Amino acid sequence: MENKNTNAAAPVVLITGASAGIGEATAQRFAREGWRIVAVARRAEKLARLAENIAGATGIATLAADVAAPGTARQAIDLTMERFGRLDCLVNNAGSGRWAPVHATEDAMLDEVVDISLKGTFRFCRAALGVMKPGACIVTVGSTFGLLGGLDGGIYCAVKAGLVGLTQTMAAQYGASGIRANLVAPGVIKTDMTKDYWDAPFFTRINQEMTPFDREGTCEDVANAIYFLASDQGSYINGQSIALDGGWSTTKYLCKDAMLAERVPHAKAAE
Ligand SMILES: NC(=O)c1ccc[n+]([C@@H]2O[C@H](COP(=O)([O-])OP(=O)(O)OC[C@H]3O[C@@H](n4cnc5c(N)ncnc54)[C@H](OP(=O)(O)O)[C@@H]3O)[C@@H](O)[C@H]2O)c1
Repeated sequence: MENKNTNAAAPVVLITGASAGIGEATAQRFAREGWRIVAVARRAEKLARLAENIAGATGIATLAADVAAPGTARQAIDLTMERFGRLDCLVNNAGSGRWAPVHATEDAMLDEVVDISLKGTFRFCRAALGVMKPGACIVTVGSTFGLLGGLDGGIYCAVKAGLVGLTQTMAAQYGASGIRANLVAPGVIKTDMTKDYWDAPFFTRINQEMTPFDREGTCEDVANAIYFLASDQGSYINGQSIALDGGWSTTKYLCKDAMLAERVPHAKAAE
């Protein structure tokens, strides 16, 4: 679907996983700046709600499709070019949140995470690079657990680390053509993906006891960084992975209570 408010001079951003959480906040952020939006996610009703919220502010086209399906990236780029005639930024945000330690990862999970988060992202980049002009850019949503590794993270962490490599490779290959690639790496943020853990002690501990900042990160924090990277303000940033975690990954911070607390050993990995 598409609304009628289109301005042919406005830049265009294609966002995967745009109907909820970080992707939705990113769509809202770009819309506020007058960009036109192409939004991809699986559930049509959530996309329709996004389009309704944004309609009036800017042009929006939506595609209800799974990024893991081999044809989706091509379809999304074709839709972008048919409706808007240009692509200024690709935001690779859709990703699987499936999480298990390496020894307990079944093939079904391995395939799902690789298909959605790595192969899906790769195909979107490949298709986007075919139509992007100098000045365009790609921003991929990784994770701090892809920069540092994460307890029990298995394939989630491996794939997010792979996205750092893909970003650096694209920065090297296409920077000279004026196309930049960067990655944002959020810490843990309250979204549908993490809702099962909001009340878990480790969620609070990461966000409060291990983070030298006095509030939790939000989807808007991530959206602001993505927009900054895509805007003229970020036009000399290329190949970077920027952690958005209040300092969690760079400081090894522990609040005083946590530092003095009795140590509870982790269960041995292979048990
Ligand atoms: N939340 C965190 O703490 C956190 C931390 C670090 C990194 N991240 C990363 O941030 C990204 C967004 O996560 P989030 O927390 O915002 O998740 P979320 O609130 O669950 O939203 C996920 C969005 O992606 C769409 N989506 C999921 N799988 C898809 C698929 N196979 N094909 C197309 N669309 C798909 C969802 O819509 P449908 O379900 O309708 O498709 C929804 O729009 C992910 O890459 C995640 O790994 C999140």
